[in-house]
Amino acid sequence: MRISIVSSTPLAATPAPGLTADDSLRCQVLADLIGFPPEIARDADLVLLSGYRADGRLLAALESCNASAPQCAVVPVLAAPPADQVVQLMQAGAADIVGSLGVADLNALIGRVRERLRRASLPADAVRTIGLISAKGGDGATCIAANLAAALSRCPGTRVMALDLSLPFGDLEIHLTSEQPHHDLADVLAQIDRLDATLLDTLSHPVGEQLRLITSPAEFGRFIEVKPPLVGRLLTLASQSYRFVIVDLGSGTDPVSLSLLGHFDQLLLVATPDIASLRRAAKVLRMWQGMGRDTSRVGLVANRVTANPEVPVTRFAATLGLPVLREIAEESEGVSQSLLEGVPVLVTAPASAFSRAIRHWAADLSGIHPVEESLWSSFKQLWRAA
Ligand SMILES: Nc1ncnc2c1ncn2[C@@H]1O[C@H](COP(=O)(O)OP(=O)(O)OP(=O)(O)O)[C@@H](O)[C@H]1O
Ligand SMILES: [Mg+2]
Repeated sequence: MRISIVSSTPLAATPAPGLTADDSLRCQVLADLIGFPPEIARDADLVLLSGYRADGRLLAALESCNASAPQCAVVPVLAAPPADQVVQLMQAGAADIVGSLGVADLNALIGRVRERLRRASLPADAVRTIGLISAKGGDGATCIAANLAAALSRCPGTRVMALDLSLPFGDLEIHLTSEQPHHDLADVLAQIDRLDATLLDTLSHPVGEQLRLITSPAEFGRFIEVKPPLVGRLLTLASQSYRFVIVDLGSGTDPVSLSLLGHFDQLLLVATPDIASLRRAAKVLRMWQGMGRDTSRVGLVANRVTANPEVPVTRFAATLGLPVLREIAEESEGVSQSLLEGVPVLVTAPASAFSRAIRHWAADLSGIHPVEESLWSSFKQLWRAA
């Protein structure tokens, strides 16, 4: 990895993170960020900006790097910035924020950037089926599954199936639609022997142009019709007919989920970064391992992340031995509005850090990166026009 540290004044000592022979570390001094040369980002995988205030100049530097070198992770070094500043920096394109150039902070950051590079080098169609599991009830697997499915379906030419296997009481639909779907999972499974791509399209509920939804059984009694082998056949057919199949697996501990874990290219443990979730996530992982389930495809999605989480996300992930795949910000207002209106948060709060993170995630998965304006550049345009 090529690392570049740009600082406002010369560093007292060259930082010494754990690097391999293939890595390189450059340090340079730039007294001011005005006219920040984007070549610095073009020639690096990670650029750290140290000793600068979180003001318009830093935001502009982040934006210009993001525009000219989107593959590079540009990371301001700021000790404990307030939450609104974190959101602004992320919106301007900061890939991460690090508290210091100390070895522990740098090593943790470099680990995250390596994971980002690894993911970026995967073939675009490496992941098709994604199962989401809540570490503990209410951690947000359903909300994230719904919004990720909606964001993926907005990528050109990308058809998506969202499937609710959070049994027996799934509620995936409330994040996506205000309509009552005509058919549910039990109806679809009842037709499994004659199910093909066309019938699957007909029985699933349309949400916009490219997203189809299958809800969990509407009545408790029909839950017994949901047999793992039938759901396995449905998943196979769906993954052949849709570019992505996004499945809400609820707690991931019911018999249907447990028997289907092997069907997914990626399993996402959605957790709020607190002690209760950490304990629960550890138990779930131990349970899967104890049952001989392969946990190599499990990644962590930290949800409802604030500036000062009860357990820092990196420590949370390290304790579980999982890679952090995404961090999604707390977005109370947009989420509440989404539930009231039956539309994704992408619609009720499109400019929020939540929606930006979900859109970037969808773009990384689909390999289709739309040119997206940050709040900062929209603000600048408005300001210029005024
Ligand atoms: N990032 C977020 N910011 C704010 N609110 C959120 C966020 N993620 C989820 N929520 C809200 O938290 C509540 C629980 O979320 P959700 O239903 O997705 O969790 P879950 O893990 O699926 O829960 P369950 O165990 O009941 O299935 C919901 O009201 C949801 O809208
Ligand atoms: Mg749920």
